[in-house]
Amino acid sequence: MCGIFAITGSDLTAGIRSLRGLKKLEYRGYDSWGVTVREPNQCIFIAKEIGKISDVAFDTKFPAGSEAIGHSRWATHGGVTRENAHPHQVGKITLVHNGICENYLEIKAELSFSEYESETDTEVIGALLDELYTEYGDPIKAIEIAAKKIHGRFAILVMFEGEPGIFAARRGSPLIIGRGETETYIASDIPAFLAETQVVNYIDDNELVHICGPTAVFQDLISGTTIEKRNITVPWKVEDADKGDYPHFMIKEIFDQKETISAAINHDNAQLIKAIQLLQSTNGTYIIACGTSHKVAMAAEYFFANVAGKKINVVPASEMASFDQFIHEKTALIAISQSGETADIMEVVEKAKIKKAKILSLTNVESSSLARLSDVNIPINAGPEKAVASTKAATAQLALMYLLAFGINVDRYDVANIAKNFQHAFNKGRLILTNTAASVNDMLNPRYEDHIRTVAKQIYQEDKMFIIGRGSLYPMALEAAIKIQEVSYISAMGFAAGELKHGPIALIEKGTPCLVLGGDPETISNAIELKARGAKIIGVAPKNAPVFDEWLKVPDCNGAQAIATIIPVQILAYHLAVLRGLDPDMPRNLAKSVTVK
Ligand code: M6R
Repeated sequence: MCGIFAITGSDLTAGIRSLRGLKKLEYRGYDSWGVTVREPNQCIFIAKEIGKISDVAFDTKFPAGSEAIGHSRWATHGGVTRENAHPHQVGKITLVHNGICENYLEIKAELSFSEYESETDTEVIGALLDELYTEYGDPIKAIEIAAKKIHGRFAILVMFEGEPGIFAARRGSPLIIGRGETETYIASDIPAFLAETQVVNYIDDNELVHICGPTAVFQDLISGTTIEKRNITVPWKVEDADKGDYPHFMIKEIFDQKETISAAINHDNAQLIKAIQLLQSTNGTYIIACGTSHKVAMAAEYFFANVAGKKINVVPASEMASFDQFIHEKTALIAISQSGETADIMEVVEKAKIKKAKILSLTNVESSSLARLSDVNIPINAGPEKAVASTKAATAQLALMYLLAFGINVDRYDVANIAKNFQHAFNKGRLILTNTAASVNDMLNPRYEDHIRTVAKQIYQEDKMFIIGRGSLYPMALEAAIKIQEVSYISAMGFAAGELKHGPIALIEKGTPCLVLGGDPETISNAIELKARGAKIIGVAPKNAPVFDEWLKVPDCNGAQAIATIIPVQILAYHLAVLRGLDPDMPRNLAKSVTVK
């Protein structure tokens, strides 16, 4: 939610470079944007507008200046208006903010400032900082005191009048520092400055950084002590974060799955063993996740049951409060998150850490807050995922969870043979997944996409759709519904195949499109029941069946069938969106990383 960017440069082009950086962060929020440049005479220039930053011309003129901050907004407090767009300026303060100040009304009531121009919590933070800066004359002290007053998650970038450089602080919302030869960057995510530098510093919660030209000084917000940071070189390439010749990130990322499934399982056994040993050393496992990652978690429940005969508990992170009593020092919490920044997940993990539960996470962003808070983190290696709709991250998560299920039954007390036993267990899983990856590679070709586009053309004007699946394909039916809803706005509903006849079948009318995931006899019977009520049946299965009006063929992938089955549905969702004239990369009301509760 919201992309933020700052640069303290060596030349006077900070404004246009901020715009370029922000364009790379648009997936985080795209209802309005703004850039502030500090001019050499110390004047503060602010440009802000409603609309997408991608619509702003690359040759937009900014005044000369070597320091700038920018923001691409996903509205929380206050509607989408120019006044509510960031940056906000109050007195000597100009700032941008990603997060939510939960007690902004209380803070507002305590402040003498009253001439607010926006409805945002951010402007209140600005007023607070201005009052503190006026009182103490010290930007760091002002941020330290403000941070203690603010309840909620935030990442802020602040320019103080009369102080060179840019100050930033975080608690719960992401911030990464990019280290150039002659300049420094701060952004919500690495792709914003990847074209300039691959060298980064990670900034943790309750830390502050002051950047000025090429220097960056870090400080603990609570103790006030200076912190030394390691320079880390990230392995991402600029091309990984670009859409290349594809019209949209979503379809590019769907085709990336030719490689990402193999990449997901490309881990040393040692790392996987750490994860398994964490699970084996506890009694009681919960998987928490949100949205698509939650549907992966549900599929993992089937993997663990089928492969290892183990029952694990899967709960949407936002519902975990009701089960809090079961979390203690002997609990293992598996958190699955592409971004590693989702607020609902972070809240559960932070509470579980206090109770000394063990945290295993699967994330795509290795630098994420979740990854760094975990006892063991396994990266899913999908590369940057920028489309709001999660595709390649989901199948990478599926692959990794499937592989982990193979390790869980290895006898941890058979110390003499443990390495060999793990190797044997993981080899079994890897064989299935390697074959799956190869089959997906074959399946993903332009002819396959064309066929799915033809099917999309038959149904794109419908306003509702049903998807059914059984076993691990039941969560994929739920995931298919999310994919179709979020990019095409068709009211798609996913069900366990056997559940439809218990109510929802009343909604089937002549021609209602129904996606049937899987070709097992029971699911085919359910498809026949739907067809008898007039449904148009689109089968997604390894074999054709007479009940299918259309057939999207998928390879037979044994226990990893969920991976192969969801991919044609992703392509279908993409083409439904495009045929309906929508931008699949930027669905309404959504943002890539949901860092608010
Ligand atoms: O980054 P996360 O995996 O934690 O994100 C969770 C959900 O917000 C995310 O999967 C969301 O449902 C996607 N937009 C679905 O495509």
